[in-house]
Amino acid sequence: MRAVDLIQKKRNGGTLSYDEIAYLINGYCKGDIPDYQMSAWAMAVYFQGMNKKETADLTMAMAHSGDTVDLSPIRGMKADKHSTGGVGDKTTLIVAPLVAAIGIPVAKMSGKGLGHTGGTIDKLEAIPGLRTELARDDFFEQVNEIGIAVVGQSGNLTPADKKLYALRDVTATVESIPLIASSVMSKKIAAGADAIVLDVKTGSGAFMKSLEDSETLAKAMVDIGTEVGRKTAAVISDMDQPLGFAIGNALEVQEAIATLRGEGPEDLEQLCLTLAAHMAVLTGRTETTEEAEELLREALRSGAASAKFRAFAAAQGGDPNVIDNPELLPQAEDTIEVLAAEDGWVAAIQAEQLGLAAMKLGAGRAAKDDPIDYAVGITLRKKVGDQVRSGETLAVLHVRRGAVGLEAIAEETREAYSIGSRQPVPRPLLLSIVTAEGSVRLS
Ligand code: URA
Repeated sequence: MRAVDLIQKKRNGGTLSYDEIAYLINGYCKGDIPDYQMSAWAMAVYFQGMNKKETADLTMAMAHSGDTVDLSPIRGMKADKHSTGGVGDKTTLIVAPLVAAIGIPVAKMSGKGLGHTGGTIDKLEAIPGLRTELARDDFFEQVNEIGIAVVGQSGNLTPADKKLYALRDVTATVESIPLIASSVMSKKIAAGADAIVLDVKTGSGAFMKSLEDSETLAKAMVDIGTEVGRKTAAVISDMDQPLGFAIGNALEVQEAIATLRGEGPEDLEQLCLTLAAHMAVLTGRTETTEEAEELLREALRSGAASAKFRAFAAAQGGDPNVIDNPELLPQAEDTIEVLAAEDGWVAAIQAEQLGLAAMKLGAGRAAKDDPIDYAVGITLRKKVGDQVRSGETLAVLHVRRGAVGLEAIAEETREAYSIGSRQPVPRPLLLSIVTAEGSVRLS
């Protein structure tokens, strides 16, 4: 087999077999196929697409390019979730203990943040003492004992995806549905869960800008999961503004704790309940999402969900007192209020711009090995649909005293807000649910 023939076949609209796809992926991983040939192939896929079987074959070739996790030492149907990326997206911190509180085991691997999006591992590490590295047996034992463990990705999981994703990033081949679907699903399949719920974002701050494209992506991922025997569903939600009010590691932990106590922002609670309800149905914990939502709301009301978060934090060495005393979380030295320059209504908030502003404050990384400051970030005082008067606070920056560039960051935050002269028509958060049976529009 020669890479050039496979590139040509795809360029001309042909269909690749599993052996051909595996030849490319394994060859690229080993360094036998150079970046320039893999780039040409990725561009051919970008233009010609892949059918269902090719996409599943690519997923499995990447899933088996490194270690795979066998979760069978953990009792029961294990659930996982994945978000296609968001700003202020602290859903894992809420959904994982919430489903664990109703008896669904969560053995989860999460990532660190890069660029404008945050990572669950960074958020968890904002809790004083909390470790996100556990030996494999301790990881299994913790899930069997308290129902939940969340750790950083360890070992050599999906090296082919890591290499190919980095290449796609610099060759304008990220926005391809089969390439995104196989990239996400290879990681989820290698991580071993039986049931996978995908939190797919749509809108200006997401990979897929239209609902139709987001549904196509969601369907591609659900098809892959279903084809390889994992129960899979996707919830498509609007990403035209950050989720909740907090952006930044400790600030998001604080908001997640409030949500687990039933005192969180409505949008965040609604999305978390929906994701968790689908995890309950896919794992067979409940028959319907309505039944699941009742149990989950009761877990929020009764304190079972926040108690699960406390047990989880303590088991991984974190200070469990942060649940009752959030001031024990890292606190920024100073705050700066970002004021509205005009009267009107908030029409839109550029989530990506706010994510970048938070990163510049020190909450995220511009490069992979940059250090981060857990305390800094942004809290929104106004969200889409709110009325504002000139001089009123739009958002608060939580900053390091004397940090450079604060004025410019405050200006970028102000500019992330679009203020209109009329009250905007409210947009629903939840737009569509995609399961193996098909998709259902929610509005
Ligand atoms: N997230 C991934 O993990 N892979 C992609 O290709 C895009 C988003």
